[in-house]
Amino acid sequence: MGLDEIYMLRCLQLARRGMSRVSPNPWVGAVLAKDSELGAKAYPKLEKILAEGWHARFGEAHAEQALLNSLPVDFDYSGTTLYVNLEPCAHVGKTPPCANLLIEKGIRRVVVGMLDPNPQVAGKGIALLKSAGIAVELGVLEKECMFFNRRFVVNQLFERAHTMLKWAESSDGLMDGIDPNRSIISGSDAHHWVHEQRAMVDAILVGIDTWQKDKPRLNIRHGLPGAMEANIDSTHPQKNPVRVVLDRHLRGQYDKESLARSDGNLLIVYEEGAAIKAYGATASKGTTIDCNGALPDGVTTITKTGKDIKSAESQAYLLEMPKQYSMPMLMKVLLELGIASVMVEGGAKVLAMFINDGCVDEVHILRSQTVLLEKGLKAPEWTGPALTQESTMGNDAHWSWYSKASVS
Ligand SMILES: NC(=O)c1ccc[n+]([C@@H]2O[C@H](COP(=O)([O-])OP(=O)(O)OC[C@H]3O[C@@H](n4cnc5c(N)ncnc54)[C@H](OP(=O)(O)O)[C@@H]3O)[C@@H](O)[C@H]2O)c1
Repeated sequence: MGLDEIYMLRCLQLARRGMSRVSPNPWVGAVLAKDSELGAKAYPKLEKILAEGWHARFGEAHAEQALLNSLPVDFDYSGTTLYVNLEPCAHVGKTPPCANLLIEKGIRRVVVGMLDPNPQVAGKGIALLKSAGIAVELGVLEKECMFFNRRFVVNQLFERAHTMLKWAESSDGLMDGIDPNRSIISGSDAHHWVHEQRAMVDAILVGIDTWQKDKPRLNIRHGLPGAMEANIDSTHPQKNPVRVVLDRHLRGQYDKESLARSDGNLLIVYEEGAAIKAYGATASKGTTIDCNGALPDGVTTITKTGKDIKSAESQAYLLEMPKQYSMPMLMKVLLELGIASVMVEGGAKVLAMFINDGCVDEVHILRSQTVLLEKGLKAPEWTGPALTQESTMGNDAHWSWYSKASVS
């Protein structure tokens, strides 16, 4: 591994710090190093890095800008190289274009992990840097950078939330036994892995029967390295992922106890007309509907809006979808509501709907090698390309598949 690759890995490490706070923006880290300290054969020491930056929070400075802000105004940038895992932006968004900032500072060389996946802007930042005479190296650890930001890649290419399916099944292919209590299928290693994954998504989605039967908390309960690093900014405590429940006919219970199971906001998705039937709700009033007090305090009813549901003030929302909506349609609406990535945790019917609708960016099956349930709920049939066995976590074999957009 060369110097460029080592510094790019450091960018990815730094980018993880913004992980649960920058969505729907990508995870980006940047490093500034001095050329004279980078002799061709010298092995770099991280203390030789001049400055580091990362995108820490949606709406705040991009990684490159954060890095520049950490240095004195009169800092001498001559002979420096900037490393960043995603192409610097060339458009004015919530912050000024990063490519222009790098040009103004007189940075000599820029090493970039991957192009911006948005076809409208891809290459524009690189072209701007090159036109200013900056040497640009593109594609260092490109595959790793693409995989790292695969959720953002899917958002940009398909304009919908990234969708990850996950379930646990017994050695005889069942998701739950006949006992009224939920069957314990996975061991603690798999459990920890699931919670680490939860720390990386904006929302966790379940079907109404799972919500009613399991009373799931759908929160992050294990302090794993990834989750801890994501929460490094303790001055801004982070809410748990949004809980999305698919409840077409609004037959679920949403009382205070169920709302309090997590501090993550709750989004109840129902089909057009159900609120009138279930709650005697009157007509739509702008973006809200009147449910005649059928829901507890704290539940706000909405139709589609541009609201950011993750950080919204009310804890629970009702979202109306048209009759027979498809899962890609729902994922599109969720992205509009600021949810860029969703982990679908079950049950079998809801997982099958995503598989049948071809709305899967990655799938993870945790198959027990010891638990046998004999009778119960059959796990969904995975009809996509062959799964790969990633690893064994305790007594659970981890099988997975990633879409091309995730690994290309
Ligand atoms: N092993 C695991 O990893 C795991 C994970 C989660 C759950 N589970 C188990 O799975 C079981 C529940 O699974 P399940 O398959 O019976 O139910 P489910 O998938 O949790 O919920 C299915 C229900 O969701 C409703 N629904 C809402 N929107 C829908 C839509 N757009 N299209 C279709 N249906 C929609 C339907 O009810 P309506 O027709 O009334 O709308 C449907 O019957 C529980 O026993 C639970 O313990 C296991």
